Amino acid sequence: MVFQNENFMRLCSPPGEHCTHSGPTRINMSGMAQPSCFYLTTPIYYVNDAPHIGHAYTTVAADVLTRWHRQRQEEVWFLTGTDEHGEKVLRTAESKGVAPQAWADKLVAEEWLPVLDTLDAANDDFIRTTDERHEVAVQRFIQRLYDDGHIYKGKFEGQYCVACEEYKLPGDLEDGTGEYEGQQVCKIHGRPVETLSEENYFFPLSQYGDKLLELYEAHPEFVQPASARNEVIGFVKQGLRDLSISRSSFDWGIELPWDSSHVLYVWFDALLNYASAVGLEDESKQDEFSRIWPADVHLVGKDILRFHAVIWPAMLLAAGLPLPKTIFAHGWLLVGGEKMSKTKLTGIHPREITDVFGSDAFRYYFTRAVQFGHDGSFSWEDIAARYNAELANGWGNLASRVAAMVGKYFGGALPTPGALTDAETDLEAVAARAVADAEAAIDRISPTDAVAAVWTLVEATNVYLTEQEPWKVAKLPGELDESGAGAGGGRLATILVTAAEALRSLAILLNPVTPQAAQNLWTILGGTEALGELDKQPVADAAAFNGLPQHVTITKGAPLFPRIEDESADSK
Ligand code: ME8
Ligand code: MG
Repeated sequence: MVFQNENFMRLCSPPGEHCTHSGPTRINMSGMAQPSCFYLTTPIYYVNDAPHIGHAYTTVAADVLTRWHRQRQEEVWFLTGTDEHGEKVLRTAESKGVAPQAWADKLVAEEWLPVLDTLDAANDDFIRTTDERHEVAVQRFIQRLYDDGHIYKGKFEGQYCVACEEYKLPGDLEDGTGEYEGQQVCKIHGRPVETLSEENYFFPLSQYGDKLLELYEAHPEFVQPASARNEVIGFVKQGLRDLSISRSSFDWGIELPWDSSHVLYVWFDALLNYASAVGLEDESKQDEFSRIWPADVHLVGKDILRFHAVIWPAMLLAAGLPLPKTIFAHGWLLVGGEKMSKTKLTGIHPREITDVFGSDAFRYYFTRAVQFGHDGSFSWEDIAARYNAELANGWGNLASRVAAMVGKYFGGALPTPGALTDAETDLEAVAARAVADAEAAIDRISPTDAVAAVWTLVEATNVYLTEQEPWKVAKLPGELDESGAGAGGGRLATILVTAAEALRSLAILLNPVTPQAAQNLWTILGGTEALGELDKQPVADAAAFNGLPQHVTITKGAPLFPRIEDESADSK
């Protein structure tokens, strides 16, 4: 047996076999099957500054994935929030001349909560590390570790990067240049490190190396993608140092319950948010905790991979709690080849982009254009080009053309189709393949590939219309009666019903990515009256062309993606 942890053993198959604990049911402590919940988190973001598009990138990916799982009719829990303690936030607040709590309150109210609306994120919960529920859970958790002998007192001296909130190893540092010439700087932030020497409490992380390596071996899905997994394995193989988990030189943090002269290390505090938000250490929430925990996916940027893939599982192993199923580290949005960051003042606020293109285009662009798991760059030219070519012309125009033709030839009532030809069954096969490929992409946590798979249906439907030329078919004898209306049952009816069915599939499949445009399309198709709310349409229903009832009223509606005034895009 690899893990002493009983819960983990009960939830997961033996090492080497595929883990099944994200299946439809989970076995709880009493052995009863319970409905399981797909639980996904973003990092909790530091409140030292406003969000930029790097933070929005993670939040959007998380929202696309969770909306997709919801559209599969799964129970889903999507958590995001803010990381408010520690020296980094304290120093920012001090530099603004306000108390750290007041600073955090202001940033959360004015920036971090509003940006969720800006992005159209449908999170189920928002946790702040200054929430009482979090502080209480953290204190109980840490007391338990202390009582069980997992924490000791010792002295430590090291090179600390405040921007990372982390002690650095020599390999994490490089020679500074420019104003930092002659100093050692952090490779991530390019800022000088500080020598800190403190008597602190320690977590014996060094004892977890073998257990962690066994975990990565037995559960290759635990750290993804493979490049991240390899990096973590390499790091752990070098040997782990014990971790200083308290600070006594400042007091902006959660007090250690047994020694109020120390506050808990900000990363120990922060990582626990994922569990405290769903009822960790709360007697009254044990059902909730066992239904939602462990997390299926912690989405993080690769900057904070080690904290999540090394420290976090070690903490949970020490406490005897089930481990999350997957830590997925995505790449960075780069500016001039470097990570976009608040510290380096290269951040673009998400609103700068949504004000021009709207939240759907923002969501689509970052999902599609920056391959999940890889680094990428944002450019105004690229988003403008994709907006026009893919959203406005590719998808939006398709919807307006079909709606206009159903209006013109059939008075807006979807006609009865006639006999199907290969062209129709081929297009339906494209839809079935798009669904299968997108589902597989979602399962391997690739929203980029999922939207690319769905887009094959946009493209194939455009090709279908170009080839079938319904506007020419309308001129053939027998397609229209004397009043100019199509009779139904003819070729024209077949083409337009098929195209409308493709649009129904697209509304369902693109609802997780572009919820406003998808809802707009659903309204055009009369979907709600005919089939119920868009959110309730199962993904699987998008694979076949038999959804819209005859005579459903198709209306013209507003364009899905209105033309953008060139000036506003160019002026950026
Ligand atoms: O690290 N490209 O918070 P943070 C892509 N509080 N993603 C980026 C990015 C970029 N250029 N910049 C930021 C912290 N992100 C801790 C986390 S979790 C228990 C505590 C995203 O405000 C990405 O998800 O520095 C990254 O990991 C996160 O924001 C860091 O946010
Ligand atoms: Mg950071």
